Amino acid sequence: MDLILCIILVALLVLYYLWTRREFYKLSMKFPGPLGYPLIGIALKLSHNGVVLKLLRTYIKKYGNIFVSWLGPFPMLIVSDPQVTRDILTSPNCVNKSFFYKIVDDSLGKGLITLHDSDWTKHRKILNPAFSHKMLLSFFPIFNKETGILLKEFNKLADGEERDILPCLQLFTLSIATQTTMGTCVKEDPKFQDNSIVVHFKWLLECASDIMHSPWLYYPIIRQILGKEEQFVKSKIYASTFITKIVDQKLSEDIKDETPCNNNSVLNLAIHQFKRGTFDRKDVEDESCVMVGAAAETSSNAVAFTLMLLAMFPEYQEKAFGEIQALFPKAGDFSISYEDIQQMVYLDLVLNECLRLIPPVPIVARQTSQPVRLSSGVVIPKGMQIIINIFEMQRRKDIWGEEAESFNPDHFLPHNFQDIHPYGFIPFTKGIRNCIGWRYGLLSIKLTLAKLLRNYKFSTSFNFKNLEYVENVTMKLATMPLLKFEQRN
Ligand code: HEM
Repeated sequence: MDLILCIILVALLVLYYLWTRREFYKLSMKFPGPLGYPLIGIALKLSHNGVVLKLLRTYIKKYGNIFVSWLGPFPMLIVSDPQVTRDILTSPNCVNKSFFYKIVDDSLGKGLITLHDSDWTKHRKILNPAFSHKMLLSFFPIFNKETGILLKEFNKLADGEERDILPCLQLFTLSIATQTTMGTCVKEDPKFQDNSIVVHFKWLLECASDIMHSPWLYYPIIRQILGKEEQFVKSKIYASTFITKIVDQKLSEDIKDETPCNNNSVLNLAIHQFKRGTFDRKDVEDESCVMVGAAAETSSNAVAFTLMLLAMFPEYQEKAFGEIQALFPKAGDFSISYEDIQQMVYLDLVLNECLRLIPPVPIVARQTSQPVRLSSGVVIPKGMQIIINIFEMQRRKDIWGEEAESFNPDHFLPHNFQDIHPYGFIPFTKGIRNCIGWRYGLLSIKLTLAKLLRNYKFSTSFNFKNLEYVENVTMKLATMPLLKFEQRN
């Protein structure tokens, strides 16, 4: 009798559970997709390193640009459609990040990238002034000085051999990011001098990506058992002590300054809130760490990917070089102003094309805090995880034409680009929660490219067709092509 009662109770609980999820099942009827295995969904398939983009591509071929799947008990709507993306990114009910981002909290800290609801609104409002036009203009001396130093580093690499340029660019963008967002030059820090800080940031990201794709690794105890915790914790502590040192230094410098800062850097704005009692010490450190991490990783990759593509397609490199040479006839170091950048229109096409084909952030994810009605009339229930596949959307043949998978800056000529859906190209996302540093990113990347392209001719023996794209929170290549550079006059 007891057993029968138990069975009935369990059956009722299961029914109740299924009933609470009826809206998700209804949606999966409208947008059928891979169900995966019972209880775990497609979690096992996603957990192998480097498979996400490939796997999603096979699903798109089978199910189309909008489909539902399951990761454990979590229902996911996976989207590479610009109109649905617009509906999602402009909805106030879709501002919160998906549970996938929890690992970003554990690695870089709880900052703008992951905060929810009113905490995010508050922090974003406080930190927006760090990216005002006036602040961006004030970064130009830093951009110019650091690219001058980068040229010297590149001179050392220009020995006729093919070289990996990424480590050099990672140090460069980290140095710029700490100066512009934390007002501090870290060049004398031993962790910077021996490159170990870049290595630890890289490991942190690799561990985070590993964990992100396997929900069972969200629990530290399981990570410990599987031997995934030690490196993660070590790199986390390494990165956070690097940031804490800078915060300590700034706090001791500004200790008597109770007024709002003249220099609205991220760190100054955060310290001001700390002194007013609206931020605690952890907020100050986490926002700084998140900002430096977000800026350095994406910008170095964007520069490296663009140089790599131009090395593979010399005809476009020559056009870009011609434009820059007309502005700066003499090679060597020179100062580039905001106005100069506005004149580099071909370089704009080149950079956009690179951000289209190899977006530094290939996938973003949100969750609905309330039901969201799409413009098609379909309602996405509360609690749905939404994966926006930027990588695939920006390579769709029905949007970009037959040559969608090829590198051709002409995709962004006004007559070609004017009919593209406004959400068909979103390397920085768009809408309510777009990238706070998008203008900063574009300016610093263009300035860096202009100086490098004016001074070197890049080539590579690696073929574009052999590139393999890997989603590791940010975009990675299975093999990063080596580049050879020749000095230009
Ligand atoms: C090529 C350069 C860059 C690219 C492609 C890029 C891309 C993105 C994307 C796609 C997001 C949205 C992430 C999501 O919804 O999950 C984002 C957010 C963010 N980015 Fe960038 N980014 C770049 C440069 C920068 C720079 C230079 C900074 C800072 C100086 C920065 C700071 C941030 C921050 C703090 C967020 C979170 C914003 C929020 O949620 O309010 N990014 N970025």
